[in-house]
Amino acid sequence: MPEEKISVPFEVYRYQPGKDTTARYQKYTLDLVPHTPILTALLQIRAEVDPSLGLRYSCRSAICGSCAMQINSKSRLACETQVGPEVARHGRIVVEPMRNQPVIRDLIVDQSRFWEEYNKIEPHLKLDPRRPMPEGKATSMTPAQVDRFKEVPRCIACAACYSACPAAEADPGFPGPMALAKLYRFAVDPRDTAHEERLRRIQPNGLWLCLRCHLCTEACPKDVRPSERIRDLKEMAIAVQGATELGSRHAVGFKENLKGAGQLNEMKLVRATDGLLGMVGQLGQGIRIYRKKPEIMKKPRKIEGMDELEKIYAALDPPPKEGP
Ligand code: FES
Repeated sequence: MPEEKISVPFEVYRYQPGKDTTARYQKYTLDLVPHTPILTALLQIRAEVDPSLGLRYSCRSAICGSCAMQINSKSRLACETQVGPEVARHGRIVVEPMRNQPVIRDLIVDQSRFWEEYNKIEPHLKLDPRRPMPEGKATSMTPAQVDRFKEVPRCIACAACYSACPAAEADPGFPGPMALAKLYRFAVDPRDTAHEERLRRIQPNGLWLCLRCHLCTEACPKDVRPSERIRDLKEMAIAVQGATELGSRHAVGFKENLKGAGQLNEMKLVRATDGLLGMVGQLGQGIRIYRKKPEIMKKPRKIEGMDELEKIYAALDPPPKEGP
């Protein structure tokens, strides 16, 4: 039996810089079967209703990454997102261009910044010319070594992660989730000779601007889980360089801080993150907080279940192994 059609209301972002003074949302309603991909619906609008609608696509199979856009406020691939579930959940389908990239026209964005950040991480292996690959072998890695980055090659560079990232919105210098996930891929590749240099270079340039909101991982259509790759990079960066950046000092300070009582000692955390001079700079704010909440300055009492926390710390910091 043929699937029954439903009425699907669309609100599509329309804007042409230089021509329109402001953006607007154009309404269209189509009768479609629920499993229709949103890209197919947009192409139908363009073919039958409005040939001026600007959008980008190519494979229509979730492979090329061209059709990423905001669908009901989430970064998604239009070719794999079906109309039925969206209408059932939101009652309509609002389609907007990706965020954090300037609009060229309607749903088409300028991806220059996204690609510039990608190129900055030098996304290619830096091999040691004195250790050439074994003759006739494509790789000299073990399966376990490949496993460490096996999710990253799934990336189709759709920029859905970049669009979802609040750090990329707040700071144009942030490399973005895809660039950092790709950096991780080379930083754990045993054939690459520039691990330390890559990690040292990325720290002051924004690794620690990642807020760990995991929105990139939620947006990624290929389960690359960029936020987990960024977490791994942070651990590697601390191992190589120590806690030298504001973000790494805060992360290490936070971990050490909880050890005693299971609750934060705020004063100690500020000192660990900003140092004594930084504390002096924050004196005014500290006094204002103390007036509202004096207990914040008291030494925190041990929480119940501290023994559980101690087990976690013991697993995180195993005692050094005895010598051979
Ligand atoms: S058109 Fe290629 S991923 Fe959607």
